Amino acid sequence: AAAGAGAAAVGLTGCNSASTSAVSEPEQFDTPLPIPPLAESEMIDGIRTFWITAQPGRHEFRPGQSTSTWGFDGSYGGPTVRAAVGERVAVEVTNDLDEATSAHWHGMHLPPDMDGGPHQMIEPGDTWRAEWLIDQAPCTLWYHPHPHGATERHVYRGLTGLFYLDPAPGSAEEAVHEQLPHTYGVDDIPVVIGDKSFSDGGELVIDDGGNEVGLLGDVVTVNGVVGPLLPVRTERVRLRLLNASTARTYSLGLPGRTVTLVATDGGLVREPVALEQVRLSPGERAEVVVQLEPGEEVMLHSFEPDLGNVVVPFAVGANDAFDVLRIVAGSELAPSEDVPGELTSFGLDAASATVRREFRLSDREINGAEMDMARIDETVEVGTTEIWTVINDDLSPHNFHVHDVQFEVLSVGGSPPPPELRGHKDTVYLEPGRAVELIMRFEDYADPQWPYMYHCHLLRHEDEGLMGQFVVVNPGEAADPSMIAGHGH
Ligand code: C2O
Ligand code: CU
Repeated sequence: AAAGAGAAAVGLTGCNSASTSAVSEPEQFDTPLPIPPLAESEMIDGIRTFWITAQPGRHEFRPGQSTSTWGFDGSYGGPTVRAAVGERVAVEVTNDLDEATSAHWHGMHLPPDMDGGPHQMIEPGDTWRAEWLIDQAPCTLWYHPHPHGATERHVYRGLTGLFYLDPAPGSAEEAVHEQLPHTYGVDDIPVVIGDKSFSDGGELVIDDGGNEVGLLGDVVTVNGVVGPLLPVRTERVRLRLLNASTARTYSLGLPGRTVTLVATDGGLVREPVALEQVRLSPGERAEVVVQLEPGEEVMLHSFEPDLGNVVVPFAVGANDAFDVLRIVAGSELAPSEDVPGELTSFGLDAASATVRREFRLSDREINGAEMDMARIDETVEVGTTEIWTVINDDLSPHNFHVHDVQFEVLSVGGSPPPPELRGHKDTVYLEPGRAVELIMRFEDYADPQWPYMYHCHLLRHEDEGLMGQFVVVNPGEAADPSMIAGHGH
């Protein structure tokens, strides 16, 4: 759709964007899509152990244009960490940057002191070890820094990697997974999407003059390149989509046809759903299967997202739509199995919920308070099922992410959720003025000293205070914020 040396913007402004931040498309989508390497591991005393280093580097988003970036084990992005449900894992994260960072395992059910949030900072030169048992449904998670006040900058510079949880050997989910395309980098493709802005000198623009929603790039990258091309040699491919942008929401699909949604943030959906578009706000994931004919060419496109009743200055205009990834099928395609008609089953019973909480997001406050690392906002008893009602009280977009759990969406604006919100989720978009009801169960890891976070995943909002803390305790136990303050950050 774009014309003219990559300079012509397709949409001048959009719901996502200020006038300076519409996405312009490259002239050609001919840069082979890089596939992040799989992280190497060693079994040490029964623990699958990984080593990862956050480091500065220089990276080419476009051939011949070198940009100063940060990455895990490389100049940009990070290796895909992969472990199976039921395994004990450890990740030793070294910080070779010249400022403190952290490594948060987004979507992971794990002890709060292993979470990698703002209380588990890693000073320059230090190594932090996290160790836990993989104990949740197989799914596509990711990892990124979480330093309070600086998460937007650390993620935008490139500190982002995927974390695949494979099904336990012999499980029902393994049989489903093997029927779906599952060969990494061949028919099981990581698609990490991030928008960037570049200065004339080719450096990342980080100070954008204070856009309300945060950094909105004018170029879209996938796995760290602009204008990517994915050659395909099988009848079906599974795209593991991650919105790793700090602010922009995408609505992804293939113009004129549907994609088959098979998984959301926390794992498989109950049955595959044909969708024209999948909306992903920052932090959300979706796995979709795409079917191709020999020689066929399709374009993964971001349609103008339906953000609800967004009434803020940057919503002037429309058509924040652009191409993302060109997919070209070979003239001969290896056969792929049909997508199974049933994928998995799960479901928390709303009647089993014993606690209800309400969270109102307004400006940079949740329930009237900005984030304070020394304050515990909510105390949850281990073993309870709760319903959280989350309300966006602003006229601008937010979303909501909860650490430690995968939740189910009970309702959106009082109605049953649409198909793409019926799976396990850890992050959900919040339309202005609408309440979303989430049900979740807090299974393990009672610890009054270490909090988990909940927050808006538009990272500037999070950095500026739109975040709160909860602890999980044993029945009758109280949180101990004095200990939390004593952790030093
Ligand atoms: Cu993806 Cu609290 O973060
Ligand atoms: Cu927000």
